[in-house]
Amino acid sequence: MSTVREIPFFVYPDVYKKEEKEILKIVADVGRRGAFILQKDLEEFEQNLAEYLGIKHVIGVGNATDGLFMLARAAGIGPGDEVIFCSHTMVATAAAMHFTGATPVPVEAGWDHEIDPSSVENAITEKTKAILPTQLNGRCCDMDTLRDICSRYDLLLIEDSAQALGAQYNGEVAGSFGKGGVISFYPAKTLGCLGDGGCILTNDDEIAEKVRLYRDHGRGKDLEVECWALNSRLDNLQAVILNYKLRHYPNDIEQRRSIARMYEERLSDVSQLVLPPGPDSDPDRFDIFQNYEIEAERRDELKKYLSDQGIGTLIQWGGKPVHLFPKLGFKQKLPYTESLFERMLMLPMNTSLKKDDVDYICDKIKQFYGA
Ligand SMILES: Cc1ncc(COP(=O)(O)O)c(C=O)c1O
Repeated sequence: MSTVREIPFFVYPDVYKKEEKEILKIVADVGRRGAFILQKDLEEFEQNLAEYLGIKHVIGVGNATDGLFMLARAAGIGPGDEVIFCSHTMVATAAAMHFTGATPVPVEAGWDHEIDPSSVENAITEKTKAILPTQLNGRCCDMDTLRDICSRYDLLLIEDSAQALGAQYNGEVAGSFGKGGVISFYPAKTLGCLGDGGCILTNDDEIAEKVRLYRDHGRGKDLEVECWALNSRLDNLQAVILNYKLRHYPNDIEQRRSIARMYEERLSDVSQLVLPPGPDSDPDRFDIFQNYEIEAERRDELKKYLSDQGIGTLIQWGGKPVHLFPKLGFKQKLPYTESLFERMLMLPMNTSLKKDDVDYICDKIKQFYGA
């Protein structure tokens, strides 16, 4: 008789426990210095992250949703504009556009779950101001085609790269393709802090200057208020913790990529599944595997079976693409994305997973399908 193991989808206490000693030291140091808001530690983290990514500006903010709103505003997106986004994303992507006064326009996801460029092109109207791809699951979209569309129709490009810290496409990093992007440091993200946190990435000096104002009440030099703005700063304490975690971030990503490799080796012959593109499938890409999102026949039954075997899985966004939340008032019909949401399922993908865990998960999936 085989024993049931417990493999949660994500182990939240591990964000803290794995580095408890160091984190307690950091809390004591920051607390004793009283260095809580907009201190040198935040600047250090911003600089280190900018260096790691090869991006000119990193601006720490309260969370990625605020960051996206501020980035869009700085790029000049506002009332009367339409912004095209992929409906397979967090509602935050669309909400950030809504709060600029623009209208978010949802389009289809494609075969790899990223925004479908042909669907983008069909949705362009005279009001379209920008394309806002989500670099979903730690993989960049087809950025060449999206940039080509932007230049042909004279549109801005901004990225929801909340899930894609360090993901690359043809040697360029998520957040660097257009006016800028945002990263989320939500605890379950590849670089997670102990609460909410995020940053804006941009190579554009003007955008950087504006969002620095927007995150801090519009206050510039000598506290002169330059514009209406928010309070949305990355806490100094979180910045120090993130700075510490950044040191082993490249290893974390390698670990995720090797878990993806294991899933691929063990599951690619299961005909009832469609796996995401593997980590070695395209030399021009570097996917960071925020998530491992598969498509599965009899998805709901599989999910229940795995749960009975102690394995946590998740369907993103509560199981619905953004345009299907009725209270948001979207009228679009997106058949491919809607059918995708009947098949897709995320398997555990995090740095707490051991090789044995992955073997167990794959064995149970094979058992379910009799494969
Ligand atoms: C694709 C995407 N966009 C936006 C967000 C929002 O990030 P935050 O929680 O930092 O506001 C998330 C976080 O889950 C996300 O995954």
